[in-house]
Amino acid sequence: MKEIKERRSIRKYLAKDVPQGVLVSILENARLAPSGSNTQPWRFLVVRDETARQRIMMADHQQKWMMTAPIFLVCAADIRSRSEAPGLGALREDSKNPDIKLIIRDSAIAIEHIVLEAQHQGISTCWTAWFAQEEMQWAVNAPVGYYIAAVVTLGYAAEQPDKRARKALEDIVSYESW
Ligand SMILES: Cc1cc2nc3c(=O)[nH]c(=O)nc-3n(C[C@H](O)[C@H](O)[C@H](O)COP(=O)(O)O)c2cc1C
Repeated sequence: MKEIKERRSIRKYLAKDVPQGVLVSILENARLAPSGSNTQPWRFLVVRDETARQRIMMADHQQKWMMTAPIFLVCAADIRSRSEAPGLGALREDSKNPDIKLIIRDSAIAIEHIVLEAQHQGISTCWTAWFAQEEMQWAVNAPVGYYIAAVVTLGYAAEQPDKRARKALEDIVSYESW
């Protein structure tokens, strides 16, 4: 797919909003993602409000470039989509409930669907996840049981970075045995 080849993480955006129809059609592709046992743990919060974006940016290692993006997409995973009695304490990567790993795995698939469909529609993105879980849960006022998997910036690119290095195929693929 040319979208896979052409996508870059964009950290500088034009001061131009993304039309709501375009945003919804991008989000629709998250809805269609596969997930273990079809549990669909992903939940999304669209944030355009400047004060709210500022609060999120501060929790996201104060990455100031984020503020150039008109939309922050807070990408969460709901533990209750798998666990009926999830033991709702602090929900972090190292939480004892093993379902945490499964909801993070499944949500990542949906998030990348968003990133690729956005690219297809001329909208650029950057995954961000440089935050402490509790701080970000607070910054986005997350419901109990929501793990914040990433905050994705969305908007029209104001930079065209070169492609970033990747490992060679022979370094990541083996046939029949490792
Ligand atoms: C889970 C995840 C978290 C990331 N977090 C950040 C981040 O907090 N800040 C940032 O500037 N880039 C972040 N990135 C972007 C990566 O740095 C980027 O994907 C990588 O350097 C390769 O560059 P490319 O996406 O342009 O190919 C993140 C990417 C992923 C997948």
